[in-house]
Amino acid sequence: MSQAQSSGFGRRTVRREPVPEAAHPAPPPAPSDPPLPASVVSTTAPPRPSSSEAIAELRRVCLSRLDPVAAAATPADRLTDEIERMIAEIATDRRVQLNAREQRALAGELVNDMLGLGPLEPLLADDSINDIMVNGPERVFIERRGKLEQTTVRFRDSQHVTNVCQRIAAAVGRRVDEASPMVDARLKDGSRVNIVLPPLALDGPSISIRKFARKVIDFARLIEIGSLTAPVARVLEIAARCRLNVIISGGTGSGKTTLMNAMSRLIDPTERIVTIEDAAELQLQQPHVVRLETRPASLEGRGEVTQRDLVRNALRMRPDRIIVGEVRAGEAFDMLQAMNTGHDGSFSTVHANSTRDALTRIENMVQMGNMGLPEKAIRAQIVGAVDLIVQVERQRDGMRRVIQVTEICGLEGEVVTMNDFFIYEVLGESSGGRLHGRYKTSRVRPGFSQKLAYFGLDRAWLAALDEAER
Ligand SMILES: Nc1ncnc2c1ncn2[C@@H]1O[C@H](COP(=O)(O)OP(=O)(O)OP(=O)(O)O)[C@@H](O)[C@H]1O
Ligand SMILES: [Mg+2]
Repeated sequence: MSQAQSSGFGRRTVRREPVPEAAHPAPPPAPSDPPLPASVVSTTAPPRPSSSEAIAELRRVCLSRLDPVAAAATPADRLTDEIERMIAEIATDRRVQLNAREQRALAGELVNDMLGLGPLEPLLADDSINDIMVNGPERVFIERRGKLEQTTVRFRDSQHVTNVCQRIAAAVGRRVDEASPMVDARLKDGSRVNIVLPPLALDGPSISIRKFARKVIDFARLIEIGSLTAPVARVLEIAARCRLNVIISGGTGSGKTTLMNAMSRLIDPTERIVTIEDAAELQLQQPHVVRLETRPASLEGRGEVTQRDLVRNALRMRPDRIIVGEVRAGEAFDMLQAMNTGHDGSFSTVHANSTRDALTRIENMVQMGNMGLPEKAIRAQIVGAVDLIVQVERQRDGMRRVIQVTEICGLEGEVVTMNDFFIYEVLGESSGGRLHGRYKTSRVRPGFSQKLAYFGLDRAWLAALDEAER
């Protein structure tokens, strides 16, 4: 009995590959095993050194002998050992010379293909990588320490990438194919994934992974990294404790969700929180959290549940706070209404380039979802609802920083008045390219000072501003 059969994950129907002999013509190939290329099938006895075709052939034969279901139930290290033995056996049969390193590498690759996300596995295991971006089989980029780099990782071909995409989608009960070529999903570890297949993606399947940060980034860590200073962190902490309504604004990947997670850690554990997201990323520590996630329409176009539906539903769930992962459409209106109607302390994020821009974005989103609402009425809603906007930015040195903390003060005529408590000014750059700067502080009395006083945090607020000025 071959190793494959004895190990429990070889197919029952497995038979040994016939060894071509010099004196006889090669036997006709089995349907699952097309003939090997001339470079692999030697008609003379001495084994050939491995070539990429020979390895491809070994991979194919090995895959045809493996039972994916049994393999999936085998621990990765045991499976690697078993496959390595199987490869050695097939290589001997086929007279392909493979050194131990090549055998191990091929076994690892097969295991990654069968159990994980193929060539992406080493990148997923590397904690210093934040984002993984696959643009077709040949180009895989990563983001590390705020900078993009191209890697040497390659897929065999487009089909190999598509297989990985399908495995990701299947794990969350979705399909990704030509009929539904765009999918948002989450990996087992919580990483967020977006997939776009051809024909929409022109250069082969595209995968974008925002890796789940295993290390918690709380305020202490943000201060340590230099993303903000202690007084700025203190002001944001007070904002969270005083139940201010806060919008975190920033560009893509600027650290909005991370900052919102950090702020959410300060919410009182007795409060009931409802979170609403497209792909759940928030990591709330409180015991009383209801997590809701949207659902795309089925292939027949039915059953879609939007963020807007969920925000409306959340209002009937007796939430103390509502947290919307990111407002990007009509739910902005419902979110503002929630903030205006007793769900103080609600948070959300928005894609925008400055705190003023965030206002315009929210205004546009409300308008799109509620045609005909006068601009002034929308602005009044925003002013009534939002207390603070915090702007984050990934700066050119790769660092993510809080660069603006702005209060929405009121309406003067048609114009929303704002006050920047903090504005980060870049003062220079070190020889290593790292930016340094300082926060300019404003001590204007905030419109929410009564709330600060109610929670007994008005002195702490002033003390934080004093400290920031020093
Ligand atoms: N202050 C920070 N310092 C270092 N790394 C950070 C910081 N904030 C976030 N990150 C990392 O940067 C990546 C992007 O962060 P995050 O998901 O919070 O951004 P985002 O603005 O919400 O992105 P998106 O626009 O895609 O939703 C994550 O991998 C995160 O761990
Ligand atoms: Mg985010």
